[in-house]
Amino acid sequence: MAYSVDFEPVGRRGPCPEGGTLLDAARSLGVDLASVCGGAGTCGRCKVQLIAGSLTDVTAGERHSLSERELSQGYRLACRAWPLGDCKLHVPPESLTALQRTQVEGLDVPVEVKPPVHSYLVQIDPPSLEDLRGDDQRILAALRTVHRIEAHIPDLAVMRDASPALRNSGWQARLTLRGREVVAITPPDAPWLGLAVDIGTTKIAGYLVDLATGQTLASRGAMNPQIAFGEDVIARLIYASKGPEEAAHMQELLAGALNTIAAEACAEIGADPSSIVEAVVVGNTAIHHLFLRLPVRQLSAAPYVPAVRAEVDVKARDLGLRLAPGAYAHLLPNIAGFVGADHVAMLLATRVAASAAEQRGAVLAIDIGTNTEMCLAAAGEMTSLSCASGPAFEGAHIKFGMRAAPGAIERVRIADGHVEYKTIADEPPVGLCGSGLLDAVAQMYDVGLLDKRGRLAHGPHVREGENGIEFVIAEEAQSGNGQAITVSQHDIRELQLAKGAIRCGIDTLLQNAGLTPGDLDQVIIAGAFGTYIDVASAITIGMLPDLPLERFSQVGNAAGTGARLALISRTMRHEAQQIANRVRYLELARAPGFMHNFAVAMYFSPRGNGPTS
Ligand code: FES
Repeated sequence: MAYSVDFEPVGRRGPCPEGGTLLDAARSLGVDLASVCGGAGTCGRCKVQLIAGSLTDVTAGERHSLSERELSQGYRLACRAWPLGDCKLHVPPESLTALQRTQVEGLDVPVEVKPPVHSYLVQIDPPSLEDLRGDDQRILAALRTVHRIEAHIPDLAVMRDASPALRNSGWQARLTLRGREVVAITPPDAPWLGLAVDIGTTKIAGYLVDLATGQTLASRGAMNPQIAFGEDVIARLIYASKGPEEAAHMQELLAGALNTIAAEACAEIGADPSSIVEAVVVGNTAIHHLFLRLPVRQLSAAPYVPAVRAEVDVKARDLGLRLAPGAYAHLLPNIAGFVGADHVAMLLATRVAASAAEQRGAVLAIDIGTNTEMCLAAAGEMTSLSCASGPAFEGAHIKFGMRAAPGAIERVRIADGHVEYKTIADEPPVGLCGSGLLDAVAQMYDVGLLDKRGRLAHGPHVREGENGIEFVIAEEAQSGNGQAITVSQHDIRELQLAKGAIRCGIDTLLQNAGLTPGDLDQVIIAGAFGTYIDVASAITIGMLPDLPLERFSQVGNAAGTGARLALISRTMRHEAQQIANRVRYLELARAPGFMHNFAVAMYFSPRGNGPTS
């Protein structure tokens, strides 16, 4: 018998799947519980509090992840607890993945608007007793006579909608052609729209674009719903590899999210998603493959090769997208198993390829995330690599870590012995997001509470906690959940690993090109996390090279901008393919000097320039 599970305050209630955990129940009821490890019981992010009912006994893993106090208050890990009857649970805000700050803005890059689709307004001869041609013949004849174009309509789905639409619109229509193929027949006054989407591991950004002007008319951000299956892509690849049903489910989650984004963005401008006649989608190689339902097993095992590296054009409806019936979705090319179409889009938007071609000094472009991709353009060459920086910046494995949601501490300063902080939406603090953690550690280092190896010393605001020494940012009385918000020695180690991986990637790329950090003329930081970090803090702990601040630029969601450019410009699509062909992929772990660089990059070094300085 299935037990009923009630999640509060989200207000979702329903049966727990047979033999399922509370996490399974949350997934089936659409409760966006954070689950960084995909339900393996190791990340500690899926905390819920039992209010009524009974659950299986607390496991050893839960005793390790939860404090005595949390256990005494009924906190459990949803992925390690099975209901023994109907139960009611409280979901604390920091365990939810929803309501986060998503990022849709980005660069504005001027480009000539020349999309791969063309629009023709036509007046079509209506049928009569003297003119018994089929509707398809009339449409093609109108194109031939007025626009001198020989087109065809190979797609039945287009004709299915066309006949009633033509009669409703008085035989006037806007015909959208992609090459010679008629892909949409819409009313002449309907908007002519394209959709550009950047599917991130965590967040999705969608842009509705006027294909005639290239202007972005509406944009939407949403969480990637696959998060319920693991915040790290490897957990999702493993899940999708289980069988065709699981692979289909992962694909459908993305298609559903894109349809919601398209519908909401269209509603904002009073349009219908059937006016979207072309889409461009970018994502990392794993996301790209999951979205196209390509085999993914080979992506999670050496030598990590993509099934498809080239650009892809596919009918959007075959991916479950509800746009114009004949619309295509275009996916930019991948570079390698861990450097995908989103990196290509980022390079397109930041014009790094143009810098390389014109040999405009040394430029480093870096997109910080769970996987950090970076590209060095120098002396006409472009080299990219990916490093596993881990989900610490997303709050995973950090005691009070959370994503950038209301109540997350995003800035920390220690001034005159006082700890000052700022939270998102100015709500009482309930946790720390990546930029807050970075600031806190940099400040601890600056005031001498941390040594180079990352050891936390006793001093002001440092106390013995349940699990060892910890730095207190907000006391119990100030916090929004009755718990002091602290940074533990373990949290510092997690950040150290993340920053070590990033700095190791930077130094390895530079050494590979025979350069030192001081040779960098420009450092472009893209992506949501990179937008909000304090670059000075990142320099303080040695995550970024010590360069004058004016050499850094934080450009927002450049991958989303790249997707928009590829949507409105055939030239940009061509350039994207050239970038993918041209970029040399460097396998970090096999690069000379990797082990040494990683060891050195792990140090917190004041204005540290790593091993090459
Ligand atoms: Fe439950 Fe990670 S510990 S999902």
